[in-house]
Amino acid sequence: MADSPSLVEVRAQRASEPTFRAGTVADIPGFRALGEAVVPSTYGPIDAAYAQRMLDEWWVPEVFETSLARNTHLVAEVDGEVVAMANLGRVSRSYRDFPYVTGDREVMWKLYVHPDHQGRGIGRRLLAGIEALVEGDELWLEVVDGNAQAYDFYRAQGFEEVERVDGGPWPDDVWMRKELPMDRAR
Ligand SMILES: CC(C)(COP(=O)(O)OP(=O)(O)OC[C@H]1O[C@@H](n2cnc3c(N)ncnc32)[C@H](O)[C@@H]1OP(=O)(O)O)[C@@H](O)C(=O)NCCC(=O)NCCS
Repeated sequence: MADSPSLVEVRAQRASEPTFRAGTVADIPGFRALGEAVVPSTYGPIDAAYAQRMLDEWWVPEVFETSLARNTHLVAEVDGEVVAMANLGRVSRSYRDFPYVTGDREVMWKLYVHPDHQGRGIGRRLLAGIEALVEGDELWLEVVDGNAQAYDFYRAQGFEEVERVDGGPWPDDVWMRKELPMDRAR
């Protein structure tokens, strides 16, 4: 007879499949916890001060409140915990200035999967959810120069690099774009 499963195996068996839903202000503490888990490991090796600045300036409740009012957020949840999020908005509704951008881009501003849940298809499924919300025929995003994991993931998902923007004292931003068929399922 097979041995009884260990506690670790029982926990693994119980780890539920992710569920996907729209994000709300009730998720703000979950977004912050996700940021604390994923931002340092993602950006620390590129520029530790930049990783800290991101957490201090952009992963804070006030910025999420503004973002939730202007952008659409999608959340992946496992056992009641936010393990990933993505959002979609427009350059024209951003609180940041983009003097070099012509036209109004639909932008996925964030796509973040908790390190413990990466490689399980959650990022791909959130991206598909965002693509389904795009009104036009192209989706844009910015990736920090040096974030090879994300850059390679986006390339594999059909994005192409369009331009690099000088970040001054901070890492450069790389804009990427994906063309979407107008007759796609939504
Ligand atoms: C980049 C990220 C969003 C990808 O999400 P993920 O859930 O780990 O990726 P998935 O499991 O959905 O991978 C989907 C597919 O992409 C592939 N993929 C994942 N990472 C890849 C990489 N670095 N290079 C090439 N392909 C990659 C997977 O093999 C998989 O292929 P398949 O569908 O053929 O099996 C996630 O790893 C992450 O949050 N990274 C840290 C934060 C970050 O950098 N976010 C982006 C900010 S711009």
